[in-house]
Amino acid sequence: HLSIIDTANTIDYSNGEIKGESLINATKYLKELPNIFEDQQSFENTDPNKIIYEVQAFLPVKEGLEGGLFFGKTIIYPGKIGDEYFMTKGHFHEKPDRGEFYWGIQGEGILLLMDKNRNTWAEKMYPGSLHYINGHIAHRTINIGESILSFGACWPSDAGHNYQEIMDNGFSARLKEIKGKPQLIPVR
Ligand code: F6R
Ligand code: ZN
Repeated sequence: HLSIIDTANTIDYSNGEIKGESLINATKYLKELPNIFEDQQSFENTDPNKIIYEVQAFLPVKEGLEGGLFFGKTIIYPGKIGDEYFMTKGHFHEKPDRGEFYWGIQGEGILLLMDKNRNTWAEKMYPGSLHYINGHIAHRTINIGESILSFGACWPSDAGHNYQEIMDNGFSARLKEIKGKPQLIPVR
């Protein structure tokens, strides 16, 4: 007879946690993010082993395979370096025509987006917000709240990550807390 089986993987909708097989976990410490924050003094005065964000991903196929999908969850802890909130490195996809979905699960954030011509804009993230990130668009997430920001992501297994462009040139705007409120400030 034909059997009905349980899936190997599950997701907890309350916090986005994925359980099961083919999972990877990555912890991003402040010391691994030297070119992200503008305020060098605050960067040096903060514990280098402070965890800024954590990524979990379900990779059911090999990285680079055309036609597959990856499913991830990111949590960003609350905090600031100078007047900038904790955020991800941010990246373009290596294959620039590969898009991605993000969706807010917990907390309050900003999705910072930038096209190839360095035009930057931003979307609010909150539990239930849903974001389609076109290929060709760099993306970075920022926790503007006082609790954990968690969000889900789904992207093609052959998208790849181009971190270098953002490492070298950053985004064309920075999100800063000014008089207690997040504000986008153009760079130079
Ligand atoms: C995958 C993706 C997310 C991020 C994660 C961490 O394409 O966009 O899973 O990888 O939110 O951000 P980065 O990769 O910029 O450190
Ligand atoms: Zn991405």
